Amino acid sequence: VRVYVPRDSAARSVGADAVADAVRRAAGAQGRQVDIVRNGSRGMLWLEPLVEVVTPDGRVGYGPVAPEDVPGLVGAGLLDGAEHPLRLGVVDRLPWLARQNRVTFARVGIVDPLSPQDYERHGGTAGLRTALALPPAEVVAAVTESGLRGRGGAGFPAGIKWKTVLDRADELKFVCCNADEGDSGTFADRMVMEGDPFMLIEGMTIAAHAVGASEGYIYIRSEYPDAVATMRAAIGIAREQGWLGERILGSDLSFDLHVRVGAGAYICGEETSMLESLEGRRGQVRAKPPIPAIQGLFGKPTVVNNVLTLATVPVILANGAKAYQDLGVQRSRGTQVFQLGGNVARGGIVETAFGVTLRELVEDFGGGTLSGRPVRTVQVGGPLGAYLPASMFDLPMEYEAFAAAGAMLGHGGVVVFDDSVDMAAQARFAMEFCAAESCGKCTPCRVGSVRGVEVIDKIVAGEDRDGNLALLEDLCELMTDGSLCAMGGLTPMPVRSAIAHFSDDFLAREEGTV
Ligand code: NAI
Ligand code: SF4
Repeated sequence: VRVYVPRDSAARSVGADAVADAVRRAAGAQGRQVDIVRNGSRGMLWLEPLVEVVTPDGRVGYGPVAPEDVPGLVGAGLLDGAEHPLRLGVVDRLPWLARQNRVTFARVGIVDPLSPQDYERHGGTAGLRTALALPPAEVVAAVTESGLRGRGGAGFPAGIKWKTVLDRADELKFVCCNADEGDSGTFADRMVMEGDPFMLIEGMTIAAHAVGASEGYIYIRSEYPDAVATMRAAIGIAREQGWLGERILGSDLSFDLHVRVGAGAYICGEETSMLESLEGRRGQVRAKPPIPAIQGLFGKPTVVNNVLTLATVPVILANGAKAYQDLGVQRSRGTQVFQLGGNVARGGIVETAFGVTLRELVEDFGGGTLSGRPVRTVQVGGPLGAYLPASMFDLPMEYEAFAAAGAMLGHGGVVVFDDSVDMAAQARFAMEFCAAESCGKCTPCRVGSVRGVEVIDKIVAGEDRDGNLALLEDLCELMTDGSLCAMGGLTPMPVRSAIAHFSDDFLAREEGTV
């Protein structure tokens, strides 16, 4: 019998390793042979550890399973997909999953992440094979036509970035994957690296062919030890398979990849800071221009893309640009991998075409708050994203609609708060976070964030409220216009949205409540 127990760190954090051991022991006690596959997570995090058993009907799920549940479950016939209060049914047919459109995440949770055979059986390497048969410019054109935009947050068209690198005459070029995923409430990059690492390798290899690069780096945050280990193992296997190294899949392409581990600075997710760190220096932002596409790693033309951007490239090449372009709305094409977190009943990965509303994500998929209290606000796009009130929940998840509403989609993180949240405290936190994480290069961010904390404290202490609110707005304007990078430039977004939508929270209160 084949049983799947995720190896994803979200599942491991709630006991998946002990569950896998318990399944092995309980099956042995029954004299049954089990083949336990440690897959990635299906992204239904409230059901982890989710145990799946292969039956003639499909993969039947049980969850959330605690190690102590296992003997009873196996006794009740788990290995044959039998009834049990924890039985969820055929996992692919669960409405939460069936309603999604998994394109980038198509294999995550399905395959054994480190099995090259499994990878190829589920469509892996098809995109690379297509790409290698095309001249580089046509690969770039396909990525441009697909409408794929940078999933790290800024949404810059990937094909245009690649073309800038392709057009450079330099002999040495690089492809760098930004896996520093620092945004609060985001975990999609991690789940790709732990659940389908070959897909990222394949995407980077296609990028290398498209722009003429010979070497690549994956910069992973130190907080992701499982992703680091899985990526390193996958790179070793990919070399053995001829998917990396000299003459990849018999072509003229030679490309190799290396993992580099960050040291815990949020700012190293900013591309130029990441390049500094990769070069062995302190992660501090470089002035742009020149953009990395022209002068990046070691001064050479460099593609810097987020994990999701690169991981989506293979499927675009395999299925054609049009199939991807057909999904989505307006200038937001394809799918976005939303990550539901915070105070939410059903958190996890929701991959759908752009255009789904925030309400659908929070209410239909998320099922409201975990606390059962009313949803008061949702922060979209990480710690630098706006707080949106319930009155804006019909906003379609789309880059331009969000920008027009004074918000941003960012890397797709959606963090839910119930009505007990104190928005002045959240605004203060944004400034405090910026003060802690600022790289210190420019004054509006380095000094402005410290002043921001002070002025919010004065406002809630009732000290010249109107005067200090005006001062805070002035400071926000200065930080937005005068900061060198998005860290200082976007910190005002959560602050301003909190004031605009929840002004009552900024009324004076007793000391010590913020
Ligand atoms: P940006 O708008 O300056 O640049 C976007 C990308 O396009 C960069 O890679 C830039 O080099 C490239 N680019 C711009 N013009 C180009 C051209 N003519 N040719 C080729 N490439 C070109 O935005 P930035 O500062 O890189 O990113 C800001 C975003 O980062 C925010 O919107 C935020 O959502 C996101 N972010 C994401 C985090 C995460 O954990 N994923 C953490 C913090 C922020
Ligand atoms: Fe550094 Fe902040 Fe200036 Fe960005 S805005 S360069 S993080 S000081």
